[in-house]
Amino acid sequence: MKFFVDTADVSEIRAMAQTGLLDGVTTNPSLIAKSGRKMAEVIAEICALTNGPVSAEVTATDFDTMLAEGRYLRAIAQNVCVKVPLTEAGLRTCRALADEGTKVNVTLCFSAVQALLAAKAGAAFISPFVGRLDDIGQDGMQLIADVVQIYRNYAFSTEVLVASVRHPVHVLTAAKLGAHVATMPPATIRALFKHPLTDRGLEAFLADWQKTGQSIL
Ligand code: E4P
Repeated sequence: MKFFVDTADVSEIRAMAQTGLLDGVTTNPSLIAKSGRKMAEVIAEICALTNGPVSAEVTATDFDTMLAEGRYLRAIAQNVCVKVPLTEAGLRTCRALADEGTKVNVTLCFSAVQALLAAKAGAAFISPFVGRLDDIGQDGMQLIADVVQIYRNYAFSTEVLVASVRHPVHVLTAAKLGAHVATMPPATIRALFKHPLTDRGLEAFLADWQKTGQSIL
């Protein structure tokens, strides 16, 4: 399973890249706004920190402008993946960009039939938002199960990129279902490392080691 970090904070991305566990980055207009930086500048910086795909989202809603924005964004670096919303114009843009050889991430997916449309439109990634579905009392993970099954049934190459991930159990369930990617805020990636028994066990080992008066180096 690939791990993407969902942020436009360059220092966080640098720290995540250093772990060797980072496979890509996702951003959205809200995250770019939060960074307080120029989009093209921050996307270029992020692209230099990873070889993996970096999703940069269009902000127009009509086909012609979305296509122009997508072409502009993909020219920033070879690993830019253009992100478009799951609308009729968004999927038309997806098809046009995919036909030009550009990777497209279709975002704001909340139903399995939407995911089916995105795969037919040539998306490289589909982003179903599990946390936002859970927030309104629906089952985000059931959506992942449905999309994984549909894509397998028809051997679509579109990767299921689980988005709006809020906690490690989302990651666990997505991995068991065979989703290709999970994108998470840095705090959620850090939470994956943690277990209280790891901390307690390490503390005991180090206390016993100190009593020996030895040092390895
Ligand atoms: C992914 O590409 C999205 O930017 C992200 O996962 C949205 O997460 P949120 O629902 O926590 O804002």
